Amino acid sequence: MKKNLVLIGMMGSGKSTIGRILSKKIKLNFFDIDKLIEQKTDLSISEIFKRKGEDFFREIEEKTTVKYLKSSNNIIALGGGAFLNNNIRAALKTNSISIWLNWSSKFLIPRISKNKTRPKASELSKNELVELINERSKIYSMADYEINCDKLNKNEIVKKILKIYED
Ligand code: S3P
Repeated sequence: MKKNLVLIGMMGSGKSTIGRILSKKIKLNFFDIDKLIEQKTDLSISEIFKRKGEDFFREIEEKTTVKYLKSSNNIIALGGGAFLNNNIRAALKTNSISIWLNWSSKFLIPRISKNKTRPKASELSKNELVELINERSKIYSMADYEINCDKLNKNEIVKKILKIYED
């Protein structure tokens, strides 16, 4: 039985893309928590925020994430805000290795702005986004491992993760 490999970090940090590549390489199941929530509610993340509010989203996010963290042999991409939740961080301690895909704001902001479907980011100015990144980074730094992605391409990021996970 293998521990879950859990990718954390800001929106736009590549958690889903990297998770999918990893799952092909090491033949573990890949779960993208945002996608699971969309399937479960039959609504897009933006619609959930708009119609039901962020608190409702955070509740389902906690339930879904904790449920998947209790199993094993999975690669899991968390939503960008999930690691801020104490219960999720506690659940990560038992059977998972968490890896923070860390990018500096300079790289992250254009990646976030390109995608208009992110309710948490769409209402923020550039400065507010920088603030959010700085605030969250303090918490993301509690992950088991951190990868500084600024100078790396996808393959290099994947290699680093595999080295951490398979060692
Ligand atoms: C959020 C990030 C999103 C999604 C929701 C809230 C956040 O996930 O969970 O829009 O608070 O950072 P991604 O990081 O997969 O974009």
